[in-house]
Amino acid sequence: MPGDTKPNGKTSNGRSKRSRSRSRSKSSAQKSDKEAAGEQKVASTRGAPRVQAPEDLPVLAYRENIIDMLVENRIIVVVGETGSGKTTQIPQYLLDSERFQCLFENKRGLRVAITQPRRVAAVAMARRVSDERGTRLGDVVGYCIRFEDKSGASTRLRYMTDGCLLRECLGDPNLANYDVVILDEAHERSLHTDVLFALMKRAVKSRNGQLRMLVTSATLDTGAFSEYFDCPVLEVPGRSFTVDLHYHPVSKTQRVEAAVNVALNLHVREGPGHILVFLTGMEECEQAVNLANTKLQNMVESGKEVSDCLIVPLYGMMQSDDQRNVFEEVPEGCRKLVFSTNIAETSLTVAGVGFVVDCGYCKQKFFNPTTGMESLQVTEVSQVQAKQRAGRAGRTQHGKCFRLYSEETFHRSLLKITVPEILRSNLASVSLQMKAMGIEDVVNFDFMEPPDRVRLVKSLRLLFLIGALDADGKLTSLGERISQLPLEPQYGRVLLSAVDLGCVSEALTLVSMLSSEGIWFRPSRQNADQWEEAQATQERFVHRLGDHLTLIRVYNMWEEEGCSPEWCKANFLHFRALRQARDIRGQLYEQLEKVSEASVRKAVQKRERDDRDRRRDRDRGSSIGAEEALLQSLCSGFYMQSARACGAAGGWLIVGENVLVKCESSSAMDGSSAEWVLYTDLVGSTVANCMMRTVSAMDHKWLQPLLPKLGEVDMKRLVGLAKVSKQAPEAEVKKGAEEVAKDRAEKVGGAR
Ligand code: CDP
Ligand code: MG
Repeated sequence: MPGDTKPNGKTSNGRSKRSRSRSRSKSSAQKSDKEAAGEQKVASTRGAPRVQAPEDLPVLAYRENIIDMLVENRIIVVVGETGSGKTTQIPQYLLDSERFQCLFENKRGLRVAITQPRRVAAVAMARRVSDERGTRLGDVVGYCIRFEDKSGASTRLRYMTDGCLLRECLGDPNLANYDVVILDEAHERSLHTDVLFALMKRAVKSRNGQLRMLVTSATLDTGAFSEYFDCPVLEVPGRSFTVDLHYHPVSKTQRVEAAVNVALNLHVREGPGHILVFLTGMEECEQAVNLANTKLQNMVESGKEVSDCLIVPLYGMMQSDDQRNVFEEVPEGCRKLVFSTNIAETSLTVAGVGFVVDCGYCKQKFFNPTTGMESLQVTEVSQVQAKQRAGRAGRTQHGKCFRLYSEETFHRSLLKITVPEILRSNLASVSLQMKAMGIEDVVNFDFMEPPDRVRLVKSLRLLFLIGALDADGKLTSLGERISQLPLEPQYGRVLLSAVDLGCVSEALTLVSMLSSEGIWFRPSRQNADQWEEAQATQERFVHRLGDHLTLIRVYNMWEEEGCSPEWCKANFLHFRALRQARDIRGQLYEQLEKVSEASVRKAVQKRERDDRDRRRDRDRGSSIGAEEALLQSLCSGFYMQSARACGAAGGWLIVGENVLVKCESSSAMDGSSAEWVLYTDLVGSTVANCMMRTVSAMDHKWLQPLLPKLGEVDMKRLVGLAKVSKQAPEAEVKKGAEEVAKDRAEKVGGAR
């Protein structure tokens, strides 16, 4: 494999391994407990390992240290740079150590949960480790992600998203199914991981030594962890090569094309080493792959000599099968060119990267305190992220990193560190899950870094508005059912109300389409002909009542065409996104069936039969009745995001928010004269540039019965101010609650 060559002939084996840990046992790396209990149990299912772990992984030298420390302490933190073997090796060390397993009283064999902030990482890591152990995926080593569980009774190492573990905490706050929980990638500070910190701290305490926890991080900034958990830290020193930095500023809008050009230039000019390009999202990655393929093709056709190159995308919403390409070895002399989102920053290691191109941006969820809404925005990366990105080039060789911004930007404009997700996202889902776990006092929860109280209070308000909490902040039975659905609470509400309104099939399609990333393929504007053709083709799908019904129509037509990829291509739609929506739909359907009182299965089957009959006679959409019912169920989850036309100003005024918004030009409702609309996404960061993205027309008679609830919120009751715990700075909570209450009173008053 070209990436594994070390051009300067150096291997990293010869370097001295210095220990900075607190204790180090003599037996050290080479020897493991051969007779480990786990090993014998799994022996029957083992074949020959399909891949070997690299022999020079930094964690290997610390194998016995890690076990020693975890025998002596209930919680430890392990720090080691990306690619040092934390995720793939440490769980195996524990599984293969008899000494460690002796600690546990249960005789069912050690069970380890390893969390990942991203789905792709959970799947890739499980696959890799089961390959290393020569077992079938889903057997000894398995994974569990939001819409997919590939693990079973024999699974000992379970890679899962942190969201999945959080969900498991719902049913079992002590996590009795596991002996060890590894909270991996803690430096990412994903929202779920942050909540898990506190829950795990509690679980470890109550399990009395029978639950151990290991927190891993790729960055040294672990003071906060060790202080919060009061535990020792083991540092695994990395071994990396130097990376030369090159600054090559381009304008923000040119970043995709510029990144492709820089990457192809590197491909033509440079020696061995794969190329990793960081872009912001799926669309950009796919666009870059297409562009790079075209350009490469042109070079070949114009007679230029170009060596082999495998061009692949890598992003979080990718299908498990598609990820394989990224990690698979390529033939000698072939170079991999990977267009990735920030997922390759620290969660995933593409082996043998020698060159990095960093566009300087990433997509982040942002909560907008003015509008109370959450949106996904393209933001500058932090300095820490930029350094992580550059570091990917120096894992196995002396590397080069091209930053598509200036050195001055790096120092002056980029934030030093990334703001943790909990400090910038919508807390409704987290608050609801916490309530469902029996954590009454969400506002005073033992967060490592507490989010803004005002925002916590706002999330309780939203949960009250959709009926998930009662006026005293207690979980309702509706709220309990919503919390069991793996969705943002507002969408969970929509699905449940669709069951009642008889449009569950449509609602499942809609939520699945919204859960998959972007179905519309938008060619670059520079290619004017193609761009116009795409516009014209896509316009044919537009439903006059808005984007939600448009999405459903696209999905239905695709199914009618036998889910064909060719049809997608001809209609400028992303086949992967649609296929993914179909998978999600199947999963959601099962989960909804479990939590809803009425039989979803029967309802869906009936609807599908009706639809087939109807299609034979008439048009292709859903029946008028079902369409109205769908819009009506959208109201139940999103009525606080409805807006009324404000003729004079040429836009819509969001109810209860005094904010005037317009539709994005890509929306079906752009230019519409609908009196009432409802949106499920809002983009933009300031009040002045806020735009509705996914929008539908509404009938006022559906909204009317719901709107008065906006005025009924009693914030003090909702946060349980009467019984605020002693540790809480009461004045502060009170201030939060009052501020929100006042804020609302003014805005609701203004809009009515
Ligand atoms: O978790 P950490 O970043 O410390 O490392 P890891 O994910 O355990 O990966 C350790 C090493 O395994 C990497 O440096 C790669 O050489 C290799 N690996 C791989 O080649 N393919 C994978 N899918 C995963 C890991
Ligand atoms: Mg890792």
